[in-house]
Amino acid sequence: MGAILAAAGSAVGLGNVWRFPTETGTSGGAAFIIIYIVFMLLLGVPIMVSEFTIGRHGHSDVSRAYSLMAGDKKSLWRHMSLIPLIGGTILLSYYAVVAGWTLYYSFASLSGNMLGKESMQYVEDFISFSSDPFRPLVWTYLILFLTSFVVVKGVQKGIERSSKLMMPLLFLFLVVLMVCSMFLPGAAKGYAFMLYPDFSKITSKVILSAMGQAFFSLSVGIGCLCTYACYFRKDVNLVNDGFKVACIDTLVALCAGFIIFPAVFSIDGVEPNAGPSLVFITLPSVFHQVLGAVPMLEYGFSVLFYLLLMMAALTSSISMLEMPTAYLHKELKLSRGVSVVIVTVVCIALSTVCSLSFGYFKDFTVCGLGFFDLCDFFIAKIVMPVGGFLSCVFLGWIVDEKIMNAELTNGGTLRSPLYGIIRFLIRYFAPVCIFLIFVNELGIL
Ligand code: PHE
Repeated sequence: MGAILAAAGSAVGLGNVWRFPTETGTSGGAAFIIIYIVFMLLLGVPIMVSEFTIGRHGHSDVSRAYSLMAGDKKSLWRHMSLIPLIGGTILLSYYAVVAGWTLYYSFASLSGNMLGKESMQYVEDFISFSSDPFRPLVWTYLILFLTSFVVVKGVQKGIERSSKLMMPLLFLFLVVLMVCSMFLPGAAKGYAFMLYPDFSKITSKVILSAMGQAFFSLSVGIGCLCTYACYFRKDVNLVNDGFKVACIDTLVALCAGFIIFPAVFSIDGVEPNAGPSLVFITLPSVFHQVLGAVPMLEYGFSVLFYLLLMMAALTSSISMLEMPTAYLHKELKLSRGVSVVIVTVVCIALSTVCSLSFGYFKDFTVCGLGFFDLCDFFIAKIVMPVGGFLSCVFLGWIVDEKIMNAELTNGGTLRSPLYGIIRFLIRYFAPVCIFLIFVNELGIL
């Protein structure tokens, strides 16, 4: 139970509440959501199950789990640990920037600073905050320190325990907010944006974004779940639990969408394609427009909501820091403390540039992307799909078939037609589909 909760804790985070609405908004709405859900089920779940299987069977960090299971192809597959090492560090670096924003918003709400403003004021406030050369950095560093403190002290247990309470609470808040959003003047337009697909908007870019979002949101393809699964008990039903985590994760993302988009269409001057700032400019408006009549309620709600969001971000950022740390600790035999310090220092440097790319370094772009967007593109649209592809190929074709069968059915004790389907998805569908999407994106197909 604890292990599954930890996996859900890693999956549910800013990817659902912040990244999902951002990507949906920039990729055209409903059509994107449909592809995202299909990818979640047909690619996300099989990759999650293969990472669970490799982690539980290999019973160690990524590098050892792969070499243990690879037989005579050991030397090649042990390099898979480069993905969590490099990917985890870059991911944490830009994730911490957004997590820092949530921390700032928690404090700003706590001090009453966020109350009773005009909608446009929230837009201006966010822009002036995020483009400031110093303020957001302080909050980003705070998140990094908090994360490293938890990982060094090994207080994951405490965090896990508290997330058992906080996750349902976050979910409850989302549902209440969803109801609140129903009464906003732009609600109908928001629902139409999320529910009526315009298939002419589907391009190869949208397909790649939907795949990236599915992987990012489930935390798959980067070795994170593999690391967690080594603590799973032998009687955990990997397929069922993987499916459950995916359902919870999708539900949270959809709730966030049903909160944000009615709000977007209710505020003049805010477009759904506003990008990463979307959630931070619409949410305070929802609080104000719906609860403004009772200031105490507006205050309490916004404080609690941002705190919960920040906690959800923290459970994810902990799992990110754990990946490179585990590598340095187990492979290079550095102490846990030293490993955490090394990764954190690198993250501080990278996240500084990421944060500044919203202001000071705005004009430095590569292929039209600032440094923050570039990191996100690299992780969600390259590293995660490649990692997911490799884990499916590994489990489906390299590892002895008996191992997969035994792990999926817990040694033959579980029976369900679902296992045949999952096996097919892992061996054939997922790798071929990811490959085709890449080939298509490169313009070859
Ligand atoms: N899935 C997390 C989220 O939605 C992000 C994450 C990705 C965490 C990869 C760990 C590994 O916020």
